[in-house]
Amino acid sequence: MGFQAHPTALVESESIGEGTRIWAFTHVMPGAVIGRNCNIADHCHIEGGSVVGDNVTVKNLNMVTEGVTLEDGVFVGPHVVFTNDRYARSPRGGHAGSRYADKASWLLPTVIRRGATLGGGSVILPGLVVGEYAMVAAGCVVTRDVPPHCLLKGNPGRPGGWVCFCGLPLVAAGGEARCANCGHQFEVTQSGVTPLGGPT
Ligand SMILES: CC(C)(COP(=O)(O)OP(=O)(O)OC[C@H]1O[C@@H](n2cnc3c(N)ncnc32)[C@H](O)[C@@H]1OP(=O)(O)O)[C@@H](O)C(=O)NCCC(=O)NCCS
Repeated sequence: MGFQAHPTALVESESIGEGTRIWAFTHVMPGAVIGRNCNIADHCHIEGGSVVGDNVTVKNLNMVTEGVTLEDGVFVGPHVVFTNDRYARSPRGGHAGSRYADKASWLLPTVIRRGATLGGGSVILPGLVVGEYAMVAAGCVVTRDVPPHCLLKGNPGRPGGWVCFCGLPLVAAGGEARCANCGHQFEVTQSGVTPLGGPT
């Protein structure tokens, strides 16, 4: 066993990578996949059918639902809400039961791309892609795909600038943007920002 789990954690998955740490009162369900060197904080619930890459940080009080993929290096702030069913109803009795006989008719996968951050208390609606190194603000409700390096704020979430690989806001001038912190430079176009180079 190359990972560490607090004595109160309930770990039912056999796919957990080396160096990963799972803290108190967290439940990792059968069928969940977690990569190497992750930190899964207290009181989380990682459902079967979710995939967590390498070097991912999941802060306290998160439920990573079936169909969610967190790529390498993603940061999930405290109390983020993932969803996987856009028009959710209780499948028990009532009018919607037949829809829940087949996962394909309700489950929408969500992908959080490499290096992205989800701010505390943000809500991620189903079926979306949050782009590489994007930054979702605390409390933001994400209703659309998020471009790479985009800073998204508000409810519903709206683009509010661009951020560097290091997470700090880029300063744009003309068709370029630069990070004052680490010196990375980006080309800025209507469709987004593209890295031009800089320190690695
Ligand atoms: C509201 C909802 C049912 C979808 O309605 P819809 O009519 O298909 O919504 P659309 O995606 O067409 O969006 C319509 C507008 O409403 C906004 N919107 C949609 N859901 C929103 C939400 N939860 N909060 C704020 N704005 C929302 C969209 O941004 C869009 O506005 P815009 O065009 O100005 O950007 C869905 O977005 C939702 O919130 N579902 C609940 C998911 C959930 O909690 N599931 C729990 C079990 S996993």
